[in-house]
Amino acid sequence: MKLIHLTDLHLVPAGAMLFGFDPAERMRKTIERINRDHADAELCVVTGDLTDEGDFASYELLREVLQEMRVPIRLLLGNHDSRQTFLRAFPGEPCDRKGFVQSIHETSVGRLIFLDTLVEGLGHGALNEGRLEWLLERLTERPQAPAYLFAHHPLQPIGLPHFEQWNTENWRQIMRAIVGAGNVRHVFHGHVHVDVGGTWSGIPFSASRGVAHQIIPHLARRDADFVEDAPAFDIALIDDDSVLVHRFEVNDRHVLEVSAAGPIPKDVQ
Ligand SMILES: [Fe+2]
Repeated sequence: MKLIHLTDLHLVPAGAMLFGFDPAERMRKTIERINRDHADAELCVVTGDLTDEGDFASYELLREVLQEMRVPIRLLLGNHDSRQTFLRAFPGEPCDRKGFVQSIHETSVGRLIFLDTLVEGLGHGALNEGRLEWLLERLTERPQAPAYLFAHHPLQPIGLPHFEQWNTENWRQIMRAIVGAGNVRHVFHGHVHVDVGGTWSGIPFSASRGVAHQIIPHLARRDADFVEDAPAFDIALIDDDSVLVHRFEVNDRHVLEVSAAGPIPKDVQ
């Protein structure tokens, strides 16, 4: 199964700019690249910060921009979003019974579980007020099914001082629960605007630096340098034996030479 992981679009209303660039234009270029090279993906998941200020005009613009996308899309919320305004602009998006933007998607390789870590008006994440219980119900109702989690905030710290203040509030409890469930194969997240991956408590995770602005990772500083690198996104290739995460940049690199190669063998096509 092929999945696309986008994150941190930070759209602003049409005509406005963010740090001197147009986030919608970066998203349009990203969609163009996806339609050209990855239209065969089963799903594209956007792990939050869909907008920069959670305003209706930005969500309307997002709806318009997404019309070009040829891959089905699932939208998650980040700390820059507003749950109520998002649901006004996207009334059909699935929610859990308490109104959090949490849902699942069944696939041939297991279950994708989409989490809502937004704490309105604050930067840090949380899975409280029944959200962690909802996740555990999803993990335990099909204990044999591999599960892949998607969230805006990292579920465990990523080792950069800049993000310590926005750690997910109950992360130890969340990770204990996930490890205990035993069927989570990977966590995909956003929020950090840097490329990072590894394992948390033995659970593999990955984050892309995202579509809008990026951050230069610094291991000792609490402040951060925001930069405008090329938009980036991840492609996950998942089967029974592996979860592979490939990173792509939307740039205009000049190809030096096309290396000669034979046909792709039938069994890997
Ligand atoms: Fe963000």
